[in-house]
Amino acid sequence: MAKSHIQFVCQQCGAIYKNWTGRCTACGAWSSLIQQFDESSRDEKSAVSRGQASGRSLEYVSIKKLEASDDRERLKTGFPDLDTVLGGGILLGSVSVLAGQPGIGKSTLLMQICAEVANTHSVLYVSGEESAGQIKLRAIRLGAESENLKFASSTSANDIAKTIEGGEFDLVIVDSIQTLTLAEIASAPGGVSQVTNCGNLIIRAAKISGTAVIIVGHVTKEGTMAGPKVLEHLVDVVLTFEGDRYGGFKIVRAVKNRFGSTSEAAIFEMNHSGLSEVENPSAALLSERQNTDGSIILATLEGTRPILVEIQALVTPTNFGYPKRTASGFDINRLNLLIAVVERRTKLKLNDKDVFINVVGGIKLQDSAADLAICLAIASAVAGRKLSEDFVVFGEVGLGGEIRSAFRPDQRISEAKKLGFAHAIAPATVKDEFVIPVRDLRSTLIDYVNE
Ligand code: TYD
Ligand code: MG
Repeated sequence: MAKSHIQFVCQQCGAIYKNWTGRCTACGAWSSLIQQFDESSRDEKSAVSRGQASGRSLEYVSIKKLEASDDRERLKTGFPDLDTVLGGGILLGSVSVLAGQPGIGKSTLLMQICAEVANTHSVLYVSGEESAGQIKLRAIRLGAESENLKFASSTSANDIAKTIEGGEFDLVIVDSIQTLTLAEIASAPGGVSQVTNCGNLIIRAAKISGTAVIIVGHVTKEGTMAGPKVLEHLVDVVLTFEGDRYGGFKIVRAVKNRFGSTSEAAIFEMNHSGLSEVENPSAALLSERQNTDGSIILATLEGTRPILVEIQALVTPTNFGYPKRTASGFDINRLNLLIAVVERRTKLKLNDKDVFINVVGGIKLQDSAADLAICLAIASAVAGRKLSEDFVVFGEVGLGGEIRSAFRPDQRISEAKKLGFAHAIAPATVKDEFVIPVRDLRSTLIDYVNE
């Protein structure tokens, strides 16, 4: 039978199919398959058998004799916390992706980094999204006009890679990968083959010349990189930029870092002259607090840094149909689970009540120790009774209603002390005078919300 030269490639995950289907069975995405020419069908002999014949034996060295590459220079971004996230600054020769929703401030942040690095190094900002005029306006606003900071407008991956390879620049920004095209590929920009191949070309150029490259990537509503996930596997560092587009805090995290840890975070605020790091996030988050019922202060961690955030719960009778549960800044499935635990393990009845949870300040909680604070906020809202002003709360809640230990309790406690709190309601495993130990949800609610 004649071999088909056509294949269908999922634009989300890169899975390959012979026939078109509505849904990719590998990643579950709908209508993500695009028809492409199958490169491997060009030759009679398969690529694998040709590859087998052409290989040579590797030359290997003892790992003791290898030179560590971490002694390469790191460029400081001008944001100390962001340097920590990066593992000490931007490593020369590394390729990073900065992923975030449109309008979150990616271009702003990178322009500010460029301005800082341009004080000592040569920097190129390539934009395929905005015109020179727009970039100039932003540079004026951010005070980023420097002789060492060059600008080019291009969407050609070939040209950009060639320029990087020239080695003239120490840092190159590519804004954004979704606008780039490689001339040799026919498909539209933003698709899986364009993004992967453009990414590959740029990475190769960066490695040859030892240039640090930061690539901007857009994310979809669901929070994954638009187009392929493949790019994340290719690069050295993947940074995510999250938070409220309008006000609130914006947080940069490393979800992948070949040169540093992934447990750090940098917290930013957008104002009229660009982004600035928030010095004392806890104080800023608590400054507008009014101690009402349903309001609890959670001692949580953002990366390895402790912060205190206010959790608000509102509980109202359900007027029609099923009770409604809504959460902003907290996982809705986790909320449903906690509500089930509260119903089963305590005397609180929530099956005829709507529950709304809000985490103040645009913070998205990823900390399992938020459970206890959520439960207490709900109970306090139901009872219409506020907790004492001087408590912070942390601890995970198990399905049995037991309170479980949390990571880094000491840091949470010291942050609470610093901000003038008197006690922490926390798991009994934490041995500290500051802590009021609790063991199970039921007695905690009885003792502190008086249900
Ligand atoms: P931008 O960096 O263009 O976002 P992205 O590149 O992620 O799409 O800008 C985000 C928003 O920030 C934009 O709507 C305007 C606003 N902004 C400020 O509030 N202050 C500033 O100094 C700048 C440059 C932008
Ligand atoms: Mg932008």
